Amino acid sequence: MFSKLQILTMLTSTISKLFMTKMVCRGANMFRCTTSAAKHFSTNIDNSIVMPHIQSSYPVVLDLTLGDGGTAKDLLSNTSSKVVGLDCDPKCMQTISKLQEEFGERFTGYLGKWSDLPMLLNRDGVELGACDAVIMDMGVSTNQVLDKDRGFSMEGSGVLDMRFSMEGLTCEQILRSAELESLSRILKVYGGVLKSRTVARDILERKYMMEEIETTDQLLEVLQNSHDRDEFWEEKGEKLKHENIQKVFLGLRMFVNNELNEMEFAIRLAEVVLSKGGVLVCEVGSQVEQSLVTKFIFRKSATVGNVEEGRAPVVHQLWELVEGTSLEMEEGGTCLIFRRC
Ligand SMILES: C[S@@+](CC[C@H](N)C(=O)[O-])C[C@H]1O[C@@H](n2cnc3c(N)ncnc32)[C@H](O)[C@@H]1O
Repeated sequence: MFSKLQILTMLTSTISKLFMTKMVCRGANMFRCTTSAAKHFSTNIDNSIVMPHIQSSYPVVLDLTLGDGGTAKDLLSNTSSKVVGLDCDPKCMQTISKLQEEFGERFTGYLGKWSDLPMLLNRDGVELGACDAVIMDMGVSTNQVLDKDRGFSMEGSGVLDMRFSMEGLTCEQILRSAELESLSRILKVYGGVLKSRTVARDILERKYMMEEIETTDQLLEVLQNSHDRDEFWEEKGEKLKHENIQKVFLGLRMFVNNELNEMEFAIRLAEVVLSKGGVLVCEVGSQVEQSLVTKFIFRKSATVGNVEEGRAPVVHQLWELVEGTSLEMEEGGTCLIFRRC
């Protein structure tokens, strides 16, 4: 018999194979996805948001977005929780060491992607057990946004990198080899960019003129010019123009980091590890992220059991949105809480 986590490990490789196939089909130049700075960058999820939805006095919390450790530290300091934290950014090793030093056995930290977690737990022989809460605070951490070499900020001049894990292709490499159709699709699907084809064409045109886009300010300049030239934006005003430019950064970030597939995996993981009544607390920084999370949650929200001949199947609901939890967060973004049924 396989444990649920072993099955998820197998699913991981299937998902990545499927993803690779999709990418190859889209064109030899397409790889993985990126992001940018559409969201606030510091955390808002804390114990006052999570704890009212948890029954256990000694909860087990899986923080899938450890970042600078703000959420984890708040839970460890103010509640009796045990926290398992994960982040794929190698720079989070510092956060992990600090939390381990301060909270000992109550905190366990891993470096890796969401899709690596089953393998990491298997490797260390760790039984996660039933979790009371899974936390996903999507977007970019404060340290990531402040580090110009990471390319997450639209402000100032930074290297056009945008990789959370610091592995794989950078945003700059992706733009260098992208083709019109693929780039336009990435911007539209991952970022919800309006006039995505025009924007993609203007980005690529710069390349054909042998001018590289290697930094965030160079990308910003191309996008600004592209929007200023396009009559479509004349009536719309500066605010909408700026939001659309932010969406370009968001779409690229999401593509670079394969965020769609990772997000789907994380939601499946939450389905497996959460105990009945446990909650997935998810902070999203953009409308696109919000609709993707909701889609992934409710697309597979039902399992069918006991199909007897001639009878209607019994449908079990996997998730429900906890009422009144669509909180607008201080620094932007929305927090949604889903309960595992
Ligand atoms: C908004 S930050 C989290 C901030 C954190 N709550 C805090 O208190 O500092 C999101 C974090 O998720 C991480 N992340 C994004 N996608 C990931 C993935 N697929 N696997 C692991 N970590 C991921 C990023 O590296 C980033 O550090």
